[in-house]
Amino acid sequence: MTEGLGGWKRTHGCGELRASHVGETVTVMGWANRRRDQGGLIFIDLRDRSGLVQCVLDRASSAAAHARAESVRSEFVLALAGEVARRPGGTENPKLPTGEIEVHVRDLKVLNEARPVPFPIEDETAVDELVRLQYRYLDLRRPALQRNFVLRDEVCRAVRDYLHEQRFLEVETPFLTRSTPEGARDFLVPSRLNPGTFYALPQSPQLFKQLLMVAGFERYFQIVRCFRDEDLRKDRQPEFTQIDVETSFLDRDDFLSIMEGMVAEIFRRVRGIEITRPFPRMTYGDAMHRYGSDKPDLRFGLELVDVSDLFRTGEFQAFAQVVQSGGVVKALTIPGAGGASRKEADDLVATAKALGAKGLVWMKVGADGIQSPISRFVEPVREALLGRAGARAGDLVLLVGDAPAIVAAVLGRLRLDLAQRHGLVPADRFSLHWVVDFPLVEWNAEERRWDSMHHPFTAPRDEDLPLLASDPGRAQAKAYDLVLNGQEIGGGSIRIHQQSVQQRVFELLGIGKDEARAKFGFLLDALEFGAPPMGGIAFGLDRLVAVLAGEESIREVIAFPKTQKGSDPMTEAPAPVSPAQLRELHIGVVD
Ligand code: AMO
Repeated sequence: MTEGLGGWKRTHGCGELRASHVGETVTVMGWANRRRDQGGLIFIDLRDRSGLVQCVLDRASSAAAHARAESVRSEFVLALAGEVARRPGGTENPKLPTGEIEVHVRDLKVLNEARPVPFPIEDETAVDELVRLQYRYLDLRRPALQRNFVLRDEVCRAVRDYLHEQRFLEVETPFLTRSTPEGARDFLVPSRLNPGTFYALPQSPQLFKQLLMVAGFERYFQIVRCFRDEDLRKDRQPEFTQIDVETSFLDRDDFLSIMEGMVAEIFRRVRGIEITRPFPRMTYGDAMHRYGSDKPDLRFGLELVDVSDLFRTGEFQAFAQVVQSGGVVKALTIPGAGGASRKEADDLVATAKALGAKGLVWMKVGADGIQSPISRFVEPVREALLGRAGARAGDLVLLVGDAPAIVAAVLGRLRLDLAQRHGLVPADRFSLHWVVDFPLVEWNAEERRWDSMHHPFTAPRDEDLPLLASDPGRAQAKAYDLVLNGQEIGGGSIRIHQQSVQQRVFELLGIGKDEARAKFGFLLDALEFGAPPMGGIAFGLDRLVAVLAGEESIREVIAFPKTQKGSDPMTEAPAPVSPAQLRELHIGVVD
């Protein structure tokens, strides 16, 4: 039989009870984590958000409560009243914060019963993620997940406290709006009142935060949901949260310094770690050249080394031709991986090809020479090559010769994969750094046009303005990304605040006057009404929290995430709607 609270009041959280409470009468409420029936004694581990406490029901001293406890099963909701007592000597549990004590129950109410749960509520679970997401409210009962949300809450609090201290205003911006140019597909919402027209859910509040600067707000922030219809991975969700920031009248370095203060405050509060400031900076060029990535993981070395000159005139035609036609040959040394099997080596070649390379050459370094499909060609430059690549006996050296972008993609990827596989990534270490001096635009060979590297409102460096006309590929942007353990956790820029410069950038991007007017007319107008110099950034809150929580996937720090296919197994969204609803929205579905 289940009952209401009946006037009972909870006095403590289960996990709060300690030896100092011994002798006190307490009332605790929560879920039956586990019940062990030893006949005259029944033990119930009661769990709430604060933790777990062992409760004991003794038939001899409280027969009625004991009788009711006999029907209790896992995940029943209980209220227990009794006295805190020291556990009998030898039965303490040092793994549990409440392990020195137990509650001797005098009275028990079953507040609700529960069906047998589809998986046990424990930290470690081998259950399929689809089942976890289908019963997410049960999954979220797991203490490990609850800890993630406590951490997420602490991060948000640290952000709000710090930014308010720095005179930032928290302002909300619309969800039903027009397309924002962050490079993903929009989620569209049909307008019932305006047949045939659609709102777009914001990919970010980018345009609005710039307008708030024109409005004179000077320092804005928002912890805000963004929506992007893109292919999902473990670090991407169709809706995710940004810590979005914009400021006026600050140059790049002053702005970044304020943001470093915020990130340092987060680490101090949630992990008790003091981060050295200023954060290191690396140029985009350096990052790509040395690590093959614009978000290099610097927790370990494994730098790529340019060895083009060693192959320019050699007999190995594949590499010689690459170098002579403007490509590069780079080497990556994996310490201690020289024992790779033939199959492993073949797999590396397959990965390289899948990433667009023509091939990959491996070299196993032995005590007295190298083993490689191209040993004969390498022989004349062996000493120089191994010296340059820092390779010693027992190491594996990988060589790729191709266009610089392909070499970076292949060796950058293999650097990460192999560091993982060979245990070269130190655990529980945080490596934070800025990547700066991004190119303003990149060439889109398919569409034969220049695309923004960030978004079209990113300011070029002042000294690079003339390059917009003469050599756009060389123009650098006042843009920056923050990288944490090889993940891009934030990105932003100083913006264009002059209409004339904005016009030139639109021209470069092939966005004609009419198109610009149609898409961002309101922003262009605003730039003519006294827009201040401005710049900002957005941090991926989910990614930041996931790294701080030591989680691989951002789904572990989002209460109700979507699967890789963008669906929610619990609500079964997205779902078909009724023909009547569609008619009302003036929408017909075609196959
Ligand atoms: P950007 O597009 O770089 O910049 O996004 C900022 C940060 O948001 C996170 N992020 C994501 N997290 C989870 N799932 C996704 N699908 C996803 N996409 C992005 C990343 C990224 O660094 N308006 C600009 C910011 C600015 O210029 O101020 C913007 O949105 O951590």
